Amino acid sequence: MRPKMTAGMVGVGMIFDDTYRPFFEAVARQGLYDRRFGDLDVQLVAVATKTGSRAERYLRQSAGLIPPFANCSGDGAVQQMLQHRPTFACVATPDNRHFEAARAILETGVHLLIEKPSVLSLSELDELTAIAERRGVLARVVYHKLLDPDHKKLRTLVADNVLQHVNNGYCSLLEPRQISGQQFSEWITGRNPGTYVAVHYIKLIDFTFGGRLKTVLCTGQRGLVGPQDGNTWDSCQLRLIYEYADGREAAFDIHTSWVTPDNFPGYVEQEVQFRFDNGIWNGHSRKRGVELTVDQLTPLKLKNTINNHYNGSFLEPWGERSQRGYGIEVIDRFAREVAWVEHGGASAERPQRLQQIRQLEYADLAADRQVVAAIEAMERILEEQAAGRPDRVARYDGRTIQLH
Ligand SMILES: NC(=O)c1ccc[n+]([C@@H]2O[C@H](COP(=O)([O-])OP(=O)(O)OC[C@H]3O[C@@H](n4cnc5c(N)ncnc54)[C@H](O)[C@@H]3O)[C@@H](O)[C@H]2O)c1
Repeated sequence: MRPKMTAGMVGVGMIFDDTYRPFFEAVARQGLYDRRFGDLDVQLVAVATKTGSRAERYLRQSAGLIPPFANCSGDGAVQQMLQHRPTFACVATPDNRHFEAARAILETGVHLLIEKPSVLSLSELDELTAIAERRGVLARVVYHKLLDPDHKKLRTLVADNVLQHVNNGYCSLLEPRQISGQQFSEWITGRNPGTYVAVHYIKLIDFTFGGRLKTVLCTGQRGLVGPQDGNTWDSCQLRLIYEYADGREAAFDIHTSWVTPDNFPGYVEQEVQFRFDNGIWNGHSRKRGVELTVDQLTPLKLKNTINNHYNGSFLEPWGERSQRGYGIEVIDRFAREVAWVEHGGASAERPQRLQQIRQLEYADLAADRQVVAAIEAMERILEEQAAGRPDRVARYDGRTIQLH
């Protein structure tokens, strides 16, 4: 009998379909192998959601692809899921509902993988980090863009000092109206596109360039998704100011929206530009080379510019159907990190293995602190704007945020 790792899932919405589902189906076929931990089975054993209906549908669709799993729903869904004692559990609920599930998972002594944005405040982050430490488990966050080959190349050039000292930059990520109008209509009230997607770029900037986050500014517009004087935001413009070890600074503007017309030629618009002392990095995730037109299908059912790197469905040259990309690779990587902690050697050395994975900061919750500080600052500034006190500035001293 091969050793087995079991998994629990909280939330089975859009991101589950894009990344977790293909991971669990692939690992059910292929297993998880590495010379350092051997040949393991990985099985999704329980799913927790609000109503159970999407999980029920997936149970039917996945028959024959993965073994059946327990469908837990309602108020006690996460606790029911945890009664199956999974080796690890993943949280993919709406942005503002990560914390409770994550805390319950860690308190049970189960390794945690949490979707971005990990949590919305520093106090929540610190609480989760402390529980993970006390229970001796991993608490990790999914930032799949760090695995995008273009972003890996940017970081490589920075790490190798080919690109020297970033001075400023901009990023934009624009989502179609369908996201705010249909996909997230159940939980959109009081939310903003910055927390939802600027966080990808906050992490990219924080992880790639390092430095100390000092100042956060933010503005937002309303009137399409919700009332123009309400607290539900159509678009946001965030500015972050960092200071580096030599005392020099950099500023980054991140523009996000979820009201781009649905007939836009790509799924999302994602563009970055970073200016260095000795160079410029210009990246465009949508214009990586493919332009597709199909009568009656583009741009609504299929997009003209498609990102085949994140999560694409393919007919492999050897005849197999597959779904692959960096969105799935990041989940696979987490499963391998857990596998190494639990099966990568003598149990007496488990604490060292745990510590070694925690030091991989790209995904560690403790290393997400500046990102969460930026998110908390942005949310607080927008709250102030909604309350009739616009143009606030947030300063972060490494521990707490002060609004001015
Ligand atoms: N990495 C990425 O690029 C990426 C992309 C999309 C979404 N996400 C993140 O993934 C998370 C989920 O997004 P989505 O698009 O899948 O959302 P969604 O609205 O499609 O699905 C949310 C799921 O959570 C469940 N749920 C809601 N409240 C719950 C609760 N209290 N307890 C248990 N289950 C609950 C719902 O039943 C549903 O299954 C968000 O945090 C989002 O930011 C990440």
